[in-house]
Amino acid sequence: MNPFNSLGLRHDGRTLWVLDQTQLPDAEVWLDGSDPDAMIALIQRLAVRGAPLIGVAAAASLATFAHRGASASEYAAACAALRAARPTAVNLMWAMDRMKGAADPVREAQAIFEEDVRLCEGMAQHGAALIQDGEGLLTHCNTGGLATAGIGTALGVIRRAHEQGKRIHVYADETRPLLQGGRLTTWELEKMGIPATLITDSMAALLLRDGKVQRVLVGSDRVAANGDFANKVGTYGLAVQARFHGVPFHPVAPISTVDLACPTGAAIPIEERDPAEVRGYGQLRWAPLAIPAWNPSFDITPVDLLTSLVLDRGVFSAAELQSGVLAKVCG
Ligand code: MRU
Repeated sequence: MNPFNSLGLRHDGRTLWVLDQTQLPDAEVWLDGSDPDAMIALIQRLAVRGAPLIGVAAAASLATFAHRGASASEYAAACAALRAARPTAVNLMWAMDRMKGAADPVREAQAIFEEDVRLCEGMAQHGAALIQDGEGLLTHCNTGGLATAGIGTALGVIRRAHEQGKRIHVYADETRPLLQGGRLTTWELEKMGIPATLITDSMAALLLRDGKVQRVLVGSDRVAANGDFANKVGTYGLAVQARFHGVPFHPVAPISTVDLACPTGAAIPIEERDPAEVRGYGQLRWAPLAIPAWNPSFDITPVDLLTSLVLDRGVFSAAELQSGVLAKVCG
């Protein structure tokens, strides 16, 4: 295989390495994800995460497996198992459906990687044009280079606006319960030198009330045909708060995140994770062991709450989405 390299994924020609995102920001540890079973475990414990990246990483793992001599039946079984590793981000299914029918799995995985880089550039170009000099920007979860093969979705847009010289200030939601914002987005923002402030999720409404935020930019794990979309739990609440305060709200996603087979958000499967993630974090626990806890990993934001969706192919208003533009743009 040809070597490739991104912030969270590396292939040296023989072995696929993934940056263990559970250890950030304290340690940069690279783990071997060449074996599909190992990759499934890495995806499920969020060592590798973010909708586009799990598709790209699963494809690279499967290609490495094929390159090392997997039989057709071993390949098919691994492809099906990877496809089912997490249920909400449709990018994983999109990538595995491409890999399933691929004549040359190595070339296909490489193409999926390179395409994701290009899709990020498209989103950055269209999204950065919305951002005005001096804006405060609020974001949720991690949607940057760690979540994609390229510069990211929402965070890629923010990065491009910063590179264009716009004076922006980012507010990063810590993103309960697994702290992708607090651990990962802050790590990326620091590396890029973008002025930023970390907040807990429950502080966002105050920031919006006080006029500190002029725009909310988030990623997505699946966009339904009508523009409803799934993203990290907490996104729906942000959309409601943004609407109340009259602040523009934009999901940012590549076409690999659009699922025309879901007519509305009601058809998007939502991953429920271990309740222990709500009772504590790592070795720390703050709740009684037996207290019931609810842990949906994603929520659905209805299209009515969007100002516009930033796709790699352009920016589409809520009204355009509701009149079926996605079927024309992505069909
Ligand atoms: O559970 P995660 O960390 O994989 O969730 C990630 C998100 O919700 C992101 O916002 C989404 O994948 C889009 S980012 C490119």
